Amino acid sequence: MAVFLAFSGAPMLLLLVSFAISSLMGSSLANLYQNFDITWGDGRAKILSNGELLTLNLDKASGSGFQSKNEYLFGKIDMQLKLVPGNSAGTVTAYYLSSKGSTWDEIDFEFLGNLSGDPYILHTNVFSQGKGNREQQFYLWFDPTADFHTYSILWNPQRIIFSADGTPIREFKNMEAVGVPFPKSQPMRIYSSLWNADDWATRGGLVKTDWSQAPFTASYRNFSARDACVWSGGASSCGTDSPAAASSKTNAWLSEELDSKKSREARMGKKKLHDIQLLHRC
Ligand SMILES: *[C@@H]1O[C@H](CO)[C@@H](O)[C@H](O)[C@H]1NC(C)=O
Ligand SMILES: *[C@@H]1O[C@H](CO)[C@@H](O)[C@H](O)[C@H]1NC(C)=O
Repeated sequence: MAVFLAFSGAPMLLLLVSFAISSLMGSSLANLYQNFDITWGDGRAKILSNGELLTLNLDKASGSGFQSKNEYLFGKIDMQLKLVPGNSAGTVTAYYLSSKGSTWDEIDFEFLGNLSGDPYILHTNVFSQGKGNREQQFYLWFDPTADFHTYSILWNPQRIIFSADGTPIREFKNMEAVGVPFPKSQPMRIYSSLWNADDWATRGGLVKTDWSQAPFTASYRNFSARDACVWSGGASSCGTDSPAAASSKTNAWLSEELDSKKSREARMGKKKLHDIQLLHRC
């Protein structure tokens, strides 16, 4: 549920902020029924704990998946994921935004599983008008299977920023000025699926899925799209039907950018984030 607040004066700020936080705690932990539909997997995907938890399962017969009820045109979207533990080699947990049609836009997180103790790869990509080939892959600085971690996509008219636990890991800037198409006019839904991709996922397909470990399970909780423009019936909840004009709204996230390149590099260095761009999927 989106919370829209008009901050008119400093004295009210604290009250409004604490109101926002408490209403968020109430709604964001139990909102998975409201925000998502299970789309495939014949019972392998489940919403549990009164809507606080969603699990996807994969076994030899099938994977499973869900999608958001809403379509968004720009947003700051957070989800906590806990990935398949143990021997997850060959499995892929995809969590992404995508529009429809043959010239679709897409913003991807894909988590490529691995043998027990070997690192997952976080694979990112951005498609605009049906063209991708902008993969960047990373090793994370934490074990993404031991606990839930927050993965965020900030998508505004100027940039797309991928973050993990609040640390930016990739920025894709709007470079339309030099002829690179940028996703900014097609509303996108959130999708996620857990599936078998042992022909390419782990060490380029060398390590296959060990089906004796099935079912494989990935878990989701604490979804938030409170700072997002929901697209419905040709209009944006941000109060304009023109995506470009949305940038003139006062919502800070719509013009958010990374502090400075330097502070970003510093943060990345501290977190021992390894960019492994040489490992391309295709
Ligand atoms: C799996 O572990 C191997 C060995 O450490 C590593 O080379 C590879 O990048 C890891 N991740 C994937 C998804 O293959
Ligand atoms: C849920 O996510 C929000 C940010 O979207 C965060 O502030 C809060 O701590 C999270 N709750 C839990 C239980 O992790």
